[in-house]
Amino acid sequence: MAREDRCSPERSNEAKPAYLNDSFIFFGSKMNRIRELIDQVAKTDVTVLIQGESGVGKEIVARALHLYSLRSEKPLIKINCAALPEELLESELFGYEKGAFTGAYRKKPGKFETAHSGTIFLDEIGDISPSLQAKLLQVLQDGQFSRLGGKTDTHVDVRVLVATNKNLEEAIRAGRFREDLYYRLNVVNISVPPLRERRQEIPIFVTHFLEKYGEKYNKRASDPSPKLMRVLTRHRWPGNIRELENVIRRLVILGDEEAIIEELGSEGKAKLSLEKTNPQYQTLIPPVLPLKEVSRRATMIAEREAILKALAQTNWNRKRAAKLMNISYKAILYKIRQYGLTKKNHAHSGSE
Ligand SMILES: Nc1ncnc2c1ncn2[C@@H]1O[C@H](COP(=O)(O)OP(=O)(O)OP(=O)(O)O)[C@@H](O)[C@H]1O
Ligand SMILES: [Mg+2]
Repeated sequence: MAREDRCSPERSNEAKPAYLNDSFIFFGSKMNRIRELIDQVAKTDVTVLIQGESGVGKEIVARALHLYSLRSEKPLIKINCAALPEELLESELFGYEKGAFTGAYRKKPGKFETAHSGTIFLDEIGDISPSLQAKLLQVLQDGQFSRLGGKTDTHVDVRVLVATNKNLEEAIRAGRFREDLYYRLNVVNISVPPLRERRQEIPIFVTHFLEKYGEKYNKRASDPSPKLMRVLTRHRWPGNIRELENVIRRLVILGDEEAIIEELGSEGKAKLSLEKTNPQYQTLIPPVLPLKEVSRRATMIAEREAILKALAQTNWNRKRAAKLMNISYKAILYKIRQYGLTKKNHAHSGSE
């Protein structure tokens, strides 16, 4: 498998890092076990579920699986399922026919079609809605799906890789994730451990990122002092390798070794940085979004409210509500689905 091994990857020898290529590092017994698993399954077409905390390298595993598969010359299409609202995600994944909804002036293929004969990587799979879970199950079962507004099924040959930092077993128990889909996805499970459980890899990653960013910014950072290395190897790394990578990038750019030691070294500061990168804490801080995204979301909120109002005024007569809003019946049906509006759940909203 190793195309450009820098060191011969002797699996029993913990002291030697195994490079799959210049950007994937697999070192230490836990990651070598994962490397072996990648070896075993890359060339098969089985679906792989990659689990692990944020920043542990789930995407690296997915990219390695594609790179060493028989599909490596074909596209690897990635989609972040948590980044889009349900209806948009559905049209991104499965495409749509001309006229499927207002604004669908021409047909558009979805990611499944673009990935034909290659691999699709569905990131953050734990966040998809029940109706998309059902559609995904169908693609996995018979490789078929229909575009939005489509009357016929489209057939694709796609290898599916999925990742999540959520506990899917818990989501199943809570009724948020279909058990039958879970078993379809979880043919092979690769669970990437957090960096704090693979501390022996830290020096290797430090060297790797020093080289990477030294080259990128054309700056030669001096080797970290023993004191900094001690701090780096003891830190809890709640943001895992991504957090370590950012610290080293900063070190290369600013050369602020003392500041990093102070920030990561003391208990209190370490806790602060833990909170900064802890996903639970992050959900409390609204992320800064690109302006386009801000307007898109604001439009959606306003549209949803206006539709609810129109439905309330017409006692949920969708034809009359569409007329009231000066849009087609088809468009209002699409919007009602897009915003997940049902008479049962929303009959009393919008009228106030
Ligand atoms: N084994 C590895 N070798 C080289 N770089 C790695 C490795 N694992 C992680 N990284 C680097 O760490 C960063 C985070 O990795 P990645 O995006 O794969 O994590 P993730 O688990 O998908 O995170 P998230 O859950 O936030 O999407 C990336 O910049 C990646 O290049
Ligand atoms: Mg990822």
